Amino acid sequence: MNSVTQTKEEELAGLKPAAENNFNSKKERTIELDQFLGEINRLETLIEHWDEGHSHIVKQLRKADNALHKEAITKIIKSVKKVPEAMNALKGAVSDELVYSVLRHLGIVKASLQERVEDALESVRPFLGSHGGNVELVELIPPNKVTIRLLGACDGCPASGLTLREGVEKAIKERCPEITEITKARGGSLAKPVDGIPVHFISPFANSEDEGWVYAAEFEEVPEKLIKIVTVSGNELILSRFDDKISCFQNACAHLGMPLDMGEIREGILICPHHAFEYSLESGECLTAPQVQLQTHAVRVVGNKVEVKLS
Ligand code: FES
Repeated sequence: MNSVTQTKEEELAGLKPAAENNFNSKKERTIELDQFLGEINRLETLIEHWDEGHSHIVKQLRKADNALHKEAITKIIKSVKKVPEAMNALKGAVSDELVYSVLRHLGIVKASLQERVEDALESVRPFLGSHGGNVELVELIPPNKVTIRLLGACDGCPASGLTLREGVEKAIKERCPEITEITKARGGSLAKPVDGIPVHFISPFANSEDEGWVYAAEFEEVPEKLIKIVTVSGNELILSRFDDKISCFQNACAHLGMPLDMGEIREGILICPHHAFEYSLESGECLTAPQVQLQTHAVRVVGNKVEVKLS
């Protein structure tokens, strides 16, 4: 994460720390917090092995204990809030990582916007990771703007639009309904050079595999927002270019599998000549029936050569 901006209003709205880095002496405090959490985890592991009756009693005791502490701390906070001069001291105390963690645990302060965004990204990482990709938070501008960056195989993938919309955006909006603007930062490709020749672009989900690439065309032969048809290993493929990124799809409509190459093209949208399904040539998404999309093949551009790997 590069930067996080938090408004004064957000700080004042509750007892959130003034900023993420306001945990003073963070290293020391983290060690202190880790010690407490380590001991709690150790005891919880022991209790896990108790019989159900005994462990239930301990859980109930902990619940009652937490409720008591929550009530007491809430009363303290309410009293302190009545004294305007004390608010700064209170916010300072909440900036302490240990204090903040306890207040969060007791449900006295809600998860910050940043925590909820991070939580949303964490929830999609297993899926992205299984395809060799990742995502990071670049910038959070409360109350409603987030910039993220797709990494690894997700960066530059023709299906990245779909990944962003159906995966990342959905997860963020579920956890942070106040976020209305999600933008994608460019960059982050992990492509490795091939025989010393730089790889300018690689897609989709193929970074970790070095074998199986087949020459398809010269980079200049692939027209911007139009198509070039090539045959690779007996497969008729559609190549298209958007700036320096090349997409590759099977020349088969997702509706009935008919060839698409005679279809009309308007502004990067390919229209099937048979029943007029429309496809984005950048992502392969079907704009007519969003639940389907063209079969995508991995592409990389090594020097001036476009290579594909059939899926
Ligand atoms: S085959 Fe393409 S829309 Fe029916």
